Amino acid sequence: MAELCFAGLGLGDDPELEGPLRTLVNAAGAVLLDNYTSSVGPAQLEALRRLAGPRLQILDRTAAEEGGAVLAALAVHDRVLFLTAGDPFVATTHVELRLRAESSGHHWRYRPGASILSAVPSFLGLQHYRFGRVISIPFPADGYAPSSFVDRIAANRSAGLHSLVLLDLVPAEGRYLSADAALGILEERDPEFRQLPASLEVAVAARVGRADAAGWYGPRTEWRRRRFGEAPHSLVVPAPELHFEEAAALERFRERV
Ligand SMILES: C[S@@+](CC[C@H](N)C(=O)[O-])C[C@H]1O[C@@H](n2cnc3c(N)ncnc32)[C@H](O)[C@@H]1O
Repeated sequence: MAELCFAGLGLGDDPELEGPLRTLVNAAGAVLLDNYTSSVGPAQLEALRRLAGPRLQILDRTAAEEGGAVLAALAVHDRVLFLTAGDPFVATTHVELRLRAESSGHHWRYRPGASILSAVPSFLGLQHYRFGRVISIPFPADGYAPSSFVDRIAANRSAGLHSLVLLDLVPAEGRYLSADAALGILEERDPEFRQLPASLEVAVAARVGRADAAGWYGPRTEWRRRRFGEAPHSLVVPAPELHFEEAAALERFRERV
């Protein structure tokens, strides 16, 4: 039976892959890259293309979710490497793939990667244990305008917790929901700022782990005047009360962008 290795590429965008990742790529008969739950930086992608050559297969949502590409590769190769930006099992559906591979008699291995779930709080100086449920904001679409994320952020705040808000993306089409657009959507779905006060201050973390990482902290209503540069972006809606160190760390990001 074959071995399926799930490995995280972390969040950097270095022009070379780390040594252990290079070893995994070199040993694999097929290298599958999840290019829909998160995006790999352009330099990392280039490094991967160079190293894996024709063994690299970039998967879109359908191919990865159906698991067909993974099972097909396992049927042909002894070692299949499945790569994801960040950590392969954070905010993704890949446990399902792992269970399917296992049910088909294959082994699996796991190499963790630095994840956005810990990197955004770390970058902004917020305490990890004070975060509530992670929230996602989807792209607006005709006939699809959910507002449940406003309720979820409000619920986290009522429990005294911060909210990490992840933003929708379709890397294959180069579409990424920006933090300013997400703040606009929040405003639109929370009419008259009923649940999240107009005076609320929010934080944005952009390109965390890359050389041009940037942070910003300021009033939520400022979004029309702000642009945060290249994707990916994440948003944090802080708890009503901040620890004094958190407050001091966030102040350093005030109005920087
Ligand atoms: C599904 S999550 C990524 C999960 C990934 N497996 C991980 O462990 O980091 C994708 C979202 O995370 C956020 N994100 C990913 N990388 C980021 C980065 N370097 N800086 C800021 N936000 C990022 C964006 O909101 C993006 O749409």
